[in-house]
Amino acid sequence: MKKCFAYIIGLLLLASCSEGKSPLYLDASAPIEKRVEDLLSRMTLEEKILQLNQYTVGRNDNINNIGELAEKIPAEIGSLICFLESPEDRNKIQRYIVENSRLGIPCLFGFDVIHGFRTICPIPLAQAASWDPELALRGAQVAAREAYDVGIDWTFSPMVDVARDPRWGRVMEGYGEDTYLASRFSEATVRGYQGPSIESLSEPGTIAACLKHYVGYGASEAGRDYVPTEISSQTLWDTYLPPFEAGIKAGAQTVMSAFNNISGTPASANRYTMTTVLKEMWNHDGFIVSDWDAVLQLKNQGMAADDKDATALAFNAGLEMDMVDDLYRKHLPELIKEGRVSMEQVDESVRRVLRVKFRLGLFEKPYTDEKPASERILLPEYKQAALDMARESIVLLKNDDNALPVSTASRVALIGPFADSAEDMLGNWAGRGRAEDVVTYLDGLRAVYPSLTYVQDIKAVQAASTHDVTILCLGQKRSWSGENTSRSDIRIPDIQQSLLREVSKAAHQRGHKLVVVLTNGRPLDLSDVEPYADAIVEAWHLGVMAGPALADVISGAESPSGRLTMTFPRSVGQIPIYYNRRSSGRRGTQGIYKDDMPITPLYEFGHGLSYATFEYSDITLDGLTATVTVKNTSSVDAKEVIQWYVQDPASVITRPVKELRHFEKRMIKAGESETFTFEIDPLRDLGFVDSFGHKYVDPGEYVLSVRGCEKSARLIL
Ligand code: BGC
Repeated sequence: MKKCFAYIIGLLLLASCSEGKSPLYLDASAPIEKRVEDLLSRMTLEEKILQLNQYTVGRNDNINNIGELAEKIPAEIGSLICFLESPEDRNKIQRYIVENSRLGIPCLFGFDVIHGFRTICPIPLAQAASWDPELALRGAQVAAREAYDVGIDWTFSPMVDVARDPRWGRVMEGYGEDTYLASRFSEATVRGYQGPSIESLSEPGTIAACLKHYVGYGASEAGRDYVPTEISSQTLWDTYLPPFEAGIKAGAQTVMSAFNNISGTPASANRYTMTTVLKEMWNHDGFIVSDWDAVLQLKNQGMAADDKDATALAFNAGLEMDMVDDLYRKHLPELIKEGRVSMEQVDESVRRVLRVKFRLGLFEKPYTDEKPASERILLPEYKQAALDMARESIVLLKNDDNALPVSTASRVALIGPFADSAEDMLGNWAGRGRAEDVVTYLDGLRAVYPSLTYVQDIKAVQAASTHDVTILCLGQKRSWSGENTSRSDIRIPDIQQSLLREVSKAAHQRGHKLVVVLTNGRPLDLSDVEPYADAIVEAWHLGVMAGPALADVISGAESPSGRLTMTFPRSVGQIPIYYNRRSSGRRGTQGIYKDDMPITPLYEFGHGLSYATFEYSDITLDGLTATVTVKNTSSVDAKEVIQWYVQDPASVITRPVKELRHFEKRMIKAGESETFTFEIDPLRDLGFVDSFGHKYVDPGEYVLSVRGCEKSARLIL
């Protein structure tokens, strides 16, 4: 019966085409909504359901997701995670799909393009440390162009999970602990991938973004991956949802449902977050894809009795596309027959998937231009964007007695396991990045310090005593961060620790300096590193241009302008520790660690030193316009990050001790002053949400402060 119906539709389609009229959905000049409805009206149930499934193509190289490869890809499949590397291979699959499916609906090719496709930029946590969303936007543009040129239409990025536990390996993929900052990077990245408007999605070089992991994945208990999360409605609204809302407002076409269980209701079966909030309150009209096997996992999470039940729960909660586990294809037909899933919901889900495909211009241009690699990857302007971002991602954590910068005339020794490690510069989730593309620290520094001595083995200690400055490269390997890489110990390995102690002794005995350069994807416990080094440079995983970026900072060609976006604890015992906590009922000597360690972190949110010195004026307030003037009192030009914080000392829903509500990064030339303004919009900047997502602002007193500025200002609303 179904086949017969499809046959009749096919005949009708053929008839309309033979009269010289092609179907409306193929008419590029028709409005997208009309094209969607036209196509939907021609589809069989089987074709509709296949649009809601995603399989993989190519060799799956995600070590956490080894599963069976689809034996046969149905020509009607909605989407594929594309592990192919050439436009020719991708086109072959697309041709098979377009030519062998009855209606010729192009497939949507998705891939994890997280911080670059081939030109690898710094990891997102490092990008955030630049405090410059424009740099992230440029990085996302480069990533989109390279991905587009091999036929990737859709990236599973940005990850906008606010994260406050450095034990969690995935902190490297996000923008840190602060909701406001993550929101600004969320919208910038979405615009970078997709362009400034919905219309720009169909232009060459743009791809669809996917905000993930919706929602609260970063609240992972004890820093372990995939585990349940305990999130109150209040915290959901004030901490975890805003970066998603910002990304949706910037036009993000898709969202990925998370693995975590949100206080009893798993994110991938959560009707409140997926339907009420995303679709009804925020009017999102794109679609949600599950995370890998997340529908299937509803059984392990203790919600679904069997596969069919899992399908019904996820689908009815508003999850449109099923990533990999193939449950929608297997179980939706029967669920519809049984009346547990409605045809309206199926149509609405397919409508959303098709809408995104039309917006991307896939029907007009299903195939990718087959350009040679030399014209589409690692182009000079791409590397320049990666370098600009890498320079500004570096955070100078410590610089006693101006150990840095190091003059190019100095005798410099370079040592340590990361000094010449190309692989580790890439960081985790490095797309199609290759070690051979990387300029290592050694290569970068050699270009600036031609007589630099690079020493590998035991002679390292000796080198420290014979050189003016030793640069010791320590940290954690790239495979120590990312998915499923939680660690209960966030110190550098013991062997590195002992090397540090010996090198420090050798250098300091002769009055030489020791600079520690760190490569890592999470905040570390540096309590055992800090006392031994004169300077500490946090260089994260900086990507293909790591070497030149580091050399610029070490030599002083660039003053470090990165600032932390995640707190560095003194030890794991302090976790969770983040700057915007709520105030405690008892202060001073109460509520502290007894005879143990301070409650303050080693390096707090917003921390980062410069080679320049800045003098801040008091804040002046003129109505709702706040101003601060910053003078560069040194002889070096440097960028400074002006961080504006707000505090509401008395509120019906208590507020954090302070919250970042505005920031600006700007160059201040040596000896010159710049004025920075914060135009306060009361609801946006002073307001708050309640546990239903209602925003309001309280009349009363607010305290406005700027990091680095002695005095705060009081604002009465
Ligand atoms: C990760 C996602 C990723 C997906 C597809 C999952 O394991 O959690 O972040 O997008 O795999 O590779």
